[in-house]
Amino acid sequence: MLIDICTLFPGMFPGVFGESILRIAQEKRLIDIVLHDMRDYTLNKHGKVDDKPYGGGPGMVLAAEPVFRAVEALRTLPKRGASELVLLTPQGERLSQTLARDLSKRPGLILVCGHYEGFDERIRTGLRPREISIGDYVLTGGEFAAMVVVDAVARLVPGVLGAEESTRDESFSGGLLEYPHYTRPAEFRGMRVPEVLLSGHHAEIAKWRSEQSRARTAIRRPDLLKPEAPEPEPKRPAPGRRPSGRTRKSDRHPRSPS
Ligand code: ADE
Repeated sequence: MLIDICTLFPGMFPGVFGESILRIAQEKRLIDIVLHDMRDYTLNKHGKVDDKPYGGGPGMVLAAEPVFRAVEALRTLPKRGASELVLLTPQGERLSQTLARDLSKRPGLILVCGHYEGFDERIRTGLRPREISIGDYVLTGGEFAAMVVVDAVARLVPGVLGAEESTRDESFSGGLLEYPHYTRPAEFRGMRVPEVLLSGHHAEIAKWRSEQSRARTAIRRPDLLKPEAPEPEPKRPAPGRRPSGRTRKSDRHPRSPS
């Protein structure tokens, strides 16, 4: 998988991508990560990428030009034909395991990291990217979000994790939290490993783990156990009145997280 990252701060990435599983995945050429400095795509000689918002207000807005030029230049490069364009923004659809799995099946991703108050809206209207948020909080920039997306996606690319780990992932991304793990010693500072795990009885161990998983999910994340509520039928508006209280379809995320 080829991952292009358009950023104003390429220096933020090498440490994170140069260690552990992501480093090995790159060495094995299972994933290729290419960083692009959006300042190289400005037309002004100072490499200025932001400007004041029209209409006033605080902060600066990331201009459309460097983003358009960077993305357009990238798309002329080999192997980018089917890459999915993704904007990292707190306004995006929420990253989930399902979304990470979906992205991991793409041949490539072009991730665009925002900074400042936000993006010039024409980046959305003109480039029609997928928009992804990693949670309901605001980061100083999209770089951190891009790192999270890359990590969540890369580990699902076949071969990146060992066979054992990927099988484990299959069985536990079934929507439940993991059961508790223990390793040696059998007793540590008075705390004993549950007897069943020492018993060697595989069926009993599997049963215990499944119960623990379910109980832990019920306590910590009961929302994960609820069946997904079906979309309500749209109410027909009374004649002459606009439906109120619902988001317009064009404002909703085209692909809601599942
Ligand atoms: N940029 C700033 N905050 C973000 C978030 N929560 N997710 C994705 N990109 C962001």
